[in-house]
Amino acid sequence: MAKILVVYASDYGNTEKMAHAVAEGVTLVPGTEAVVKKAEEVVADDMTASDGIIFGSPVHMGGMDWRLKKLIDTVCSGLWMQDLAIGKVAGVFATGSGFGGAGGGAELTMLSMLNNIAELGMIMIPLPKNTPGYAKGGMQWGAYGRTGDENLNPVGVSDEALSVARLHGSNIARATKALKENPVFKA
Ligand SMILES: Cc1cc2nc3c(=O)[nH]c(=O)nc-3n(C[C@H](O)[C@H](O)[C@H](O)COP(=O)(O)O)c2cc1C
Repeated sequence: MAKILVVYASDYGNTEKMAHAVAEGVTLVPGTEAVVKKAEEVVADDMTASDGIIFGSPVHMGGMDWRLKKLIDTVCSGLWMQDLAIGKVAGVFATGSGFGGAGGGAELTMLSMLNNIAELGMIMIPLPKNTPGYAKGGMQWGAYGRTGDENLNPVGVSDEALSVARLHGSNIARATKALKENPVFKA
């Protein structure tokens, strides 16, 4: 059984909703299971016990939520020291209110998580553009839910974004299962 940890931070429930949609997508793939946890609850054992880890963050001040970064700089860095994350599969998702024509920092948020994932030696799964709903629920880096309208009023995550989040979870689950059986990196 391939185990996938979905870890997220959330204040108002939007990223949490996406996290559960990602996990639903994971469980649709036979032979895989998902555990959903808040960033502040995750300990090293949660990560070492996982074959895949999916990181989800709200966009805060144009970048990653501090709780995710704290997890990366504390728990993940401990794994880095011992090469314990190398070869695990990873992906990202985010939500943001999206103010401005270029998304208010959504890309940077996802890219900073992917940068940390690369540093850990994990295998990153992107979101391919032929994913149904891609235009409204994601970008190449992963699933993305825009939760604000043009006047920054909160509107929540759309059904399209949740659907893309599920598909992203399934993609990562399939990759995790395949790579667990055939590891890429040899020590
Ligand atoms: C402190 C703070 C800073 C934020 N900064 C941004 C931002 O720079 N860009 C953006 O698109 N949204 C920004 N937002 C909006 C959130 O990213 C958005 O509402 C998100 O969906 C919240 O996720 P949550 O419901 O999981 O907490 C910010 C929200 C907060 C609370």
